[in-house]
Amino acid sequence: MSVLLEASELNMHFKGLKAVNNFNAQIEKGSICGLIGTNGAGKTTVINMLSGVLVPTSGKIIFDGKNITGVRPDKIAKMGITRTYQNLRLFKKMTVLENVIIGAQMHDKLDPLGIVGNTIPHKRREAELKDKSMEMLKVMGIEKYADHISGSLPYGSQRKLEIARVLAADPKLLLLDEPAAGMNPQESAELTEIIRGIRDRYGLTILLIEHDMKVVMGLCEYIYCMAFGEIISEGLPEAVRNDPKVIEAYLGRGAVHAEN
Ligand SMILES: Nc1ncnc2c1ncn2[C@@H]1O[C@H](COP(=O)(O)OP(=O)(O)OP(=O)(O)O)[C@@H](O)[C@H]1O
Ligand SMILES: [Mg+2]
Repeated sequence: MSVLLEASELNMHFKGLKAVNNFNAQIEKGSICGLIGTNGAGKTTVINMLSGVLVPTSGKIIFDGKNITGVRPDKIAKMGITRTYQNLRLFKKMTVLENVIIGAQMHDKLDPLGIVGNTIPHKRREAELKDKSMEMLKVMGIEKYADHISGSLPYGSQRKLEIARVLAADPKLLLLDEPAAGMNPQESAELTEIIRGIRDRYGLTILLIEHDMKVVMGLCEYIYCMAFGEIISEGLPEAVRNDPKVIEAYLGRGAVHAEN
């Protein structure tokens, strides 16, 4: 197994607040890794640094053999790291298919939605993008909504749409920030299977932030648990779940076991 992403001694300090302190992680190619921890632990901040949204105060991020620390988000996305957001960021007035086409166009030089002219290469490319986007909708099980306005979809399907959109950009590493948030147990069980399926089908590597322990335990092969900006435990799912430090961190906020 080889390492796809390595974060070394990452720090993100906001004035006096150490949102992330000395974060170290190695993500194996092809694995599904979990990032868990109580509210405000620093999980989203880690993903913000890995995706270039935040420039770390210090530390280093190596992705696919390249130093990407402080590289702009659009460049990082083109290099192969795409991410979803904890609070959805869809173009709600556009159709479901159009939202995915935007993701699929990421590697094109054309300006998104700026497909003008009627040349044959343009038309061919448009057809390719559409086919690919439809495939992503099928993978996520929401193809029946292709022509619907995104904002009108049930919430769980909007979450799936966000994954379809970032998947269409052909990532090597997919960062998912609470993909099951707001889903009912049946939807999150379904999502668990879909996420495993896309990893297997596209040979992706996935880092997943999630509060739903059933999803985490069902999917992740390795887990990092954070509290107050620091990793307090890491390892195989069972070991992390049973780590007294993890149990203590979750006490009073819904114990890890109670969430099962
Ligand atoms: N841009 C910012 N400026 C200042 N403080 C920030 C910023 N982003 C995050 N923080 C703070 O950093 C800490 C970690 O936040 P973060 O969003 O990473 O937590 P989280 O683990 O994702 O929590 P949750 O489970 O609630 O999503 C919090 O105290 C938060 O208020
Ligand atoms: Mg968060």
